[in-house]
Amino acid sequence: MSEVHVHQVKPEWKKDALIDKDTYEKWYKDSIDDPEAFWAKHGKRIDWFTPFTKVKNTSFNGDVSIKWFEDGTTNASYNCIDRHLEKRGDQTAILWEGDDPAEDQKISYRELHEHVCRLANVMKSNGVKKGDRVTIYMPMIPEAAYAMLACARIGAVHSVVFGGFSPDSLAGRIEDCRSDFVITADEGLRGGKKVPLKANTDKAIEIAEKAGAKVRNVLVVRRTGADVNWVDGRDLSYDDETSKASTDCEPEKMNAEDPLFILYTSGSTGKPKGVLHTTGGYLVYTSMTHQYVFDYHEGDIYWCTADVGWVTGHSYIVYGPLANGAQTLMFEGVPNYPDASRFWQVIDKHKVNIFYTAPTAIRALMGAGDDHVKKTSRKSLRVLGTVGEPINPEAWEWYYKVVGDERSPIVDTWWQTETGGILISPLPGATDLKPGSATRPFFGVRPQLVDGDGKVLEGPASGNLCIADSWPGQMRTVYGDHERFIQTYFSTYKGKYFTGDGCRRDEDGYYWITGRVDDVINVSGHRMGTAEVESALVSHPKVSEAAVVGYPHDVKGQGIYCYVTLMSGEKGSEELKKELVAHVRNEIGPIASPDKIQFAPGLPKTRSGKIMRRILRKIAEDDYRALGDTSTLADPAVVEDLVENRQNKR
Ligand code: WT7
Repeated sequence: MSEVHVHQVKPEWKKDALIDKDTYEKWYKDSIDDPEAFWAKHGKRIDWFTPFTKVKNTSFNGDVSIKWFEDGTTNASYNCIDRHLEKRGDQTAILWEGDDPAEDQKISYRELHEHVCRLANVMKSNGVKKGDRVTIYMPMIPEAAYAMLACARIGAVHSVVFGGFSPDSLAGRIEDCRSDFVITADEGLRGGKKVPLKANTDKAIEIAEKAGAKVRNVLVVRRTGADVNWVDGRDLSYDDETSKASTDCEPEKMNAEDPLFILYTSGSTGKPKGVLHTTGGYLVYTSMTHQYVFDYHEGDIYWCTADVGWVTGHSYIVYGPLANGAQTLMFEGVPNYPDASRFWQVIDKHKVNIFYTAPTAIRALMGAGDDHVKKTSRKSLRVLGTVGEPINPEAWEWYYKVVGDERSPIVDTWWQTETGGILISPLPGATDLKPGSATRPFFGVRPQLVDGDGKVLEGPASGNLCIADSWPGQMRTVYGDHERFIQTYFSTYKGKYFTGDGCRRDEDGYYWITGRVDDVINVSGHRMGTAEVESALVSHPKVSEAAVVGYPHDVKGQGIYCYVTLMSGEKGSEELKKELVAHVRNEIGPIASPDKIQFAPGLPKTRSGKIMRRILRKIAEDDYRALGDTSTLADPAVVEDLVENRQNKR
């Protein structure tokens, strides 16, 4: 293993930091010794209509039940907006930067209140009630945040679907949660290209309704002004409706454990799961991690480059920052449009202090050359962050030196859709940094490394990453399928939450995430179940069987490698590869585009018919000399053909 370059906390990072080393150690110890007392104290960081008297009531055994602050009542929209009005009504809440550098907009907390109340009233008057599921399929425009907060205000449960997903994927999500109200836009705009959101929504509804769903209304925001298909009686114009609506809407009193949102995420098997998060604990946890992990100070300009279609956007563009009264920047575009300087130009333009992005973006921009960075100032930056996948030390050092001019600490934040908020991360004033390590657990988080037999490993070790006890931001269930929740997360290791990640702990107690140990891959920070891509492939008439694995990719982290067996009589060709790529994009969305397709006369299977993915992974990595034991294969000869025709020959 190459030597680790430790970056010690610099005096200037410590100087005004909220948490220093001693405070971290003390608070961490307190949080583990007495979680009740710790969270009773920090639970008060949000405003409650009825204060909670119970703090923690959680069990990872049996039926698995997770409740935090269970007798308190509150409202997420109230906490993100109303409670700031007196003190910072005229301060910017959302700083919007358009795809086109000439477009931007500042929305103050008072304006945010107005927009959200109007939209909440539109939803109410169109029959949306507390507990109803509302699907949001939007570009990165302020209305996406208004829509989330308006749902929260009236107690509706939002399900945001990333704008890059296909009509089929959108349909599946509408159907699964029986959502009858959809909010979308005419078109999205990304990197100068238009995304037909309304047309996709129309298609999705057609598909979903065939499967028995019923969508009552589609509320359409005007983004590009494109002429779109209109279904009278169903489709509603956002402009027309909100302009008529009142700017007052009482926030609904929500129990701490009332659902706030559903967010679909991929697992190792089956359809995407509806991860359910609730109100009180989620808001306490996201606001607290936002404050301490980014060392957020009043007045800071904070920018997270994620899309609100992912959990990062939910927790660290919308709920966490707004609950803290921050100025949160929302970016409609992409890192390389108009050119590879865009991020750094936006940082200079808006004097961004805290910047949070993904390793895949860092690697892509690193590849574009230092000049794009160096021609900008970036003087305003104080803290840098990354999320989504392991960051390689080379990319870390580039981010630190070239982007940050060695002035800003990097917080490498490990977490998941399921965890709601950051679980393992440095704190800027407290944690010595090791490039590539997410470092130490946040307050209240108890990571454990477990071997294949379920034995908990102590000291420096490598194993499967579990979390031993609950934290307030944790998901509560899989929407509509609690059994799947128990099976997926709590059955591999009894009494523990299993993350699906492999991890190493070093001699300093630092955690190094090594990646997924299940059939989930991480492509450009987007999580994908290999089974989903396989099922998209086999839905093509010429495909009889498919197996999909990840392989190391310089920019994306992992690429998508597909082994495809064709129906008899079909012949593999470059055209067919293109056709299959287009087919998968169409079925799932562009983020699932296969990088490599290998036509295979047969797949390596055990005598009981199980595909040996270990072998397929090795071949995809061009590491076929280390295939290991292939004697259990039903037909060892298929491996020779696979090796011979591998697509990643070095
Ligand atoms: C998976 C969760 C959490 C927001 C974005 C992704 C990987 C995430 C890191 C990191 C190494 C990371 C893990 C995890 N991951 N952050 N800092 N270092 N790996 O959320 O789509 O639910 O994916 O992303 O493998 O399990 P997600």
